[in-house]
Amino acid sequence: MDVEAKKRQAAEGALEHVEIGSVVGVGTGSTTNHFIDALARIRHRIDATVASSEATAALLRERGIRVSDLNSVDEVSLYVDGADECTHHRQLVKGRGGALAREKIIAAAARRFVCIVDDSKLVDVLGTTAPVPVEVIPMARGYAARQLVSLGGNPFWREGAVTDNGNAILDVHGLDLVAPAETESILNQITGTVANGLFARRRADVVLVGTGSEVRILS
Ligand code: 5RP
Repeated sequence: MDVEAKKRQAAEGALEHVEIGSVVGVGTGSTTNHFIDALARIRHRIDATVASSEATAALLRERGIRVSDLNSVDEVSLYVDGADECTHHRQLVKGRGGALAREKIIAAAARRFVCIVDDSKLVDVLGTTAPVPVEVIPMARGYAARQLVSLGGNPFWREGAVTDNGNAILDVHGLDLVAPAETESILNQITGTVANGLFARRRADVVLVGTGSEVRILS
């Protein structure tokens, strides 16, 4: 089975976690786009969605799915999103699509976070295949990069990329991620950063892994 089919398999599995009449948080990326296609089939059975990016909001509306502002909903029952890397402890690296800050906000607000990935995203240690993106306020880019170097990282400016929040992204290689929750907290302390792509403190509650033969569940 090809990678797209595995992503779709995981995305279809997430549909079972959607509660009737609820607000669903929707992530960003190619795997999540398959979830949006699946969600469109039951759009009349949910109250609304909240979107983690302008691209996702546009696709949801295109599929006839109601999109609300996070500030105007009482509760997000479920957040569904992909990841760039995922450990067996359900800790993640996210943000290759640049939506990490809004993704982190919705994941924090949601009662339950279901992550959908194909099996190529599974790693033993975070940082093996993907850098950690850090969203920074543009004037803090140089300062934040120096701080990241002092922490042992090797930051690269994602030149030309501007997030939905108007910020820049540094992709950081080489960080020690053996204890990702601690590293996440340390990165959060760098003044001028908005968010980093480590989802270790608020990790996924469930991960659905499309393997081709089955949807493997990590919980
Ligand atoms: C976007 C993300 C995505 O969830 C992550 O990059 C995975 O994307 P894809 O499903 O396209 O592989 O964090 O900011």
